[in-house]
Formats: sequence, C-alpha cells, structure tokens
Amino acid sequence: MILYYIRNIVRFKKWKILLLIGTCLLASRINGILQSLYPSVTQLTELHKCPACYGVSACHNIHKVDLLWNNVNAIISHLFGVKNVFFGTYNQSKVVLKKLAHSSELKALDVTLCSELQLGYPCSSVPLDGYTADFYDLIRKIITSDFSKDDTSRLRLCPTIGHLDDLFYNVHLNNKLVDPTQYLINLWTLVSINPEPLILQILSAEDGWPVPKYFGACGRIIIEEYVGLPLSDYYDKSWIQRVKIASSLLNAAYLFTFKNESFGFYLTDISADNIAIDHENVAKFIDLENIIIVDKNISQEDEPKEWQKIHKNTMHFDCPDCFAFSAEDICNHHLSDHNYYAICQLLLNLGNENPFPGGFLQDIPTNIEQEYPDIEYLLQQCAVPDSINSRIFFGQQLKALLDMILELSQHEYNIK
Ligand SMILES: Nc1ncnc2c1ncn2[C@@H]1O[C@H](COP(=O)(O)OP(=O)(O)OP(=O)(O)O)[C@@H](O)[C@H]1O
Ligand SMILES: [Mg+2]
Repeated sequence: MILYYIRNIVRFKKWKILLLIGTCLLASRINGILQSLYPSVTQLTELHKCPACYGVSACHNIHKVDLLWNNVNAIISHLFGVKNVFFGTYNQSKVVLKKLAHSSELKALDVTLCSELQLGYPCSSVPLDGYTADFYDLIRKIITSDFSKDDTSRLRLCPTIGHLDDLFYNVHLNNKLVDPTQYLINLWTLVSINPEPLILQILSAEDGWPVPKYFGACGRIIIEEYVGLPLSDYYDKSWIQRVKIASSLLNAAYLFTFKNESFGFYLTDISADNIAIDHENVAKFIDLENIIIVDKNISQEDEPKEWQKIHKNTMHFDCPDCFAFSAEDICNHHLSDHNYYAICQLLLNLGNENPFPGGFLQDIPTNIEQEYPDIEYLLQQCAVPDSINSRIFFGQQLKALLDMILELSQHEYNIK
C-alpha cells in the first residue's frame, strides 16, 4: 500500500521531487560557499588538530566572539589565506583572532608532526599516548640558535638555554592545570609555528609591556586585544600626536632592552605594519613572531668573548638603507643597541620602502625647530651614529627632548 503510494508520487510528481532535490543540493552548495567565505569562529579553531594546537584556555568563551566581516579585505585575505588575521568583538570590546600562520605553513607543520610520530599524513585525532616524541627536547632544539645553519627559528634564546623555564614562568603558571603532555605539545606547536602567544604571556600587557592583552587560545586560534590602527596610518597626523607616538616607541625600545633584569628582548621584525597605536597615542607591538631573547645572567664559563661589551650594530656602514642585523652578534653580548637601531631607523624611514621622505617626525613646526634644533640631529645619531656616544644614549636624549616638548605643549605652546 505504502509502496504503491510512493510510486504514484514519484510518477506524477517527478518534476517536483527533482526540483526539491535540486533546490536542496543548491542550498547546500551555497551554504558550503558561504561557509568558506565566512567561516564561523568554531570552524576557524580546528579543534580536532589538538593537542597540536595553541591550547584551549579560551574555548569556553569562544562562542561569544562575533567575527566582523564588514570589510572586503577581510574576506579576500581569508580566501587567499594571506594573513589569517580576523577581527571581531568579544564582550563589547574589539578583538583580533589570529591563526598565527599562513595555511601552507600550518599544513607543513601537520606534515612534520605526522612524520615525527612516524605516521602518514594526515594524522589528526591521534590519542594523547600516540604522541611518543620527546617534545621538550624538540622545543629546546627549535629555540637554540645554530649560527652555522641558516637558522630561521622565530624565537631564539641565547647564548644558552639554561634558564628556559624561568623565561616561560608566566606561561607555565597560566597552564598549570593543563595535562603535562598536552601542554608540551601545545608549546612545541607554538615555538614551531609562531611564538607570539608565548611572548604575550611572558611580556604581559598587564605588567606594562607595550603589547596587546592576550585573552587565550582555542585550537588553532588565539584571541588578543585590538589595539588600533597600524603606525603606517599615522604619518599624516598632527605633529604633536606623532611626537607622543615617537616617544612611546623610544620608551618601548628601552623597556624591551632594560626592563627585565634576566632577559633582553630584541624584536627582529619591526615595521610600521607590525606596530599599532592605541587611543592614547601609545605604540604597541602587535607582531611578535620574530624575537631574540638574550639571557643576561649566564655563567662565567658560558660567556662569549665580547660578552661584557655593548653590542653596536654597525651594519648601516655597509647598507645605510636596510634593516640589517646579525643575530649572532646580538647573542654574543649582554646588551645590544638593536632595539634603538630598529626604532630610530623606523622613525627616519630608513630601510623602509614606504614613501615618507621626511621620516615620521617630518614638518617640525618652525617655532619648535628654532628652539630645539637638536631633534633631527639626535634622531639621525640614534639611527646612524657617527660619534663615540652610543645609539642608546642618543635615543634616550631624543626621548627626553620629545617628552619635554609634550609637557610644554600642554601649557605654553600652541603646537599642532
Ligand atoms: N592586536 C592587534 N591590534 C590591531 N591590529 C592588529 C593586531 N594584530 C594584528 N593587527 C593588524 O593585522 C595585520 C596583520 O597582523 P600580523 O602582523 O600579526 O600578521 P602577519 O600575518 O604576521 O603579517 P606579516 O607576516 O605580513 O607581518 C597587522 O599589520 C595589523 O594591521
Ligand atoms: Mg605582520
């Protein structure tokens, strides 16, 4: 009876059924296209990749994040896997979600992991006891500098890695409830792909470091505070606004170099796109993928020959317009002028292809230039010193002068 009924439907309403099936197929296709155009936060997390992921500390709140797709750039860069950086809101604040690498780099990591585990690719959903490699040893190898090779490791701890656990103290603390094996695999994934979330915990914004706040990770996504527009958008802002930003950049060079008594932090990818400006005109470093960390308290027998001297980058003699440095030289000294070099070069626009001929502090108001003719000299000397005084000295002099002008601008001067 039922069969007869179905046969009748099929016979007489064949076209309607076909139409229905066609509509369903089309709807699912459109849904597929929309999902690849506008993936949900949950899709971005790729939780099935854990423990080879960045952690799960933010997973319980991830559904509260609303991704912003109001920007064509966001869709294009997602489609081409260029940046893998997404913007959204979370508890009414703006946040940035990062996959931390291009899709091809993430795939390369998965391939390496499978071969490390002696499994074929793809090898996701491996139970925790299937992760047989010694991940602590792998981490130590990745962050150890090998200057004889063309070492592309993103985080280096040098000249020795004896104080690795002291460096990771905050990270260990934030993850003390995580299963130890899982935690080590998370760490390995991060040092292999991009150590930014580790640095955001070591140098936390809450402790006054000029970086975005870190809100945690869920699978292959991390969430951090949205700081503001990149520095590259500020070249045409008022002069006094640029002075405030320049002073905060010089302050950052000081903090990364001196604030921590145990380690010096040297950023090796400083550019106008990798710095964002907050609502108070303070610069924050938003791309912390490449960093050299110098252990300031190594034992005497580990000290390289030139250890006690201050490292002065002299590469500008060979290449005045580049951002050139030697990781080996930075590692072989207890203190380096690298951060001042990078910031002052940036302020002068040296080694930078963007077209701001006068540098970031261009168009100094005439009354200021007459009263403080040293601004350009100090900046020039900080970027490319030609006297016995160090870059750090000139950088600090420049910061003091800019701060004085800022102070005066609030009282006497009418500076724009
Ligand atoms: N915390 C943040 N606040 C504001 N903007 C951000 C933040 N993080 C990233 N951005 C924006 O997203 C862009 C890309 O981010 P990021 O530099 O981390 O990605 P990337 O893939 O490493 O880029 P690249 O390797 O080309 O430097 C930045 O240039 C900046 O404009
Ligand atoms: Mg960047």
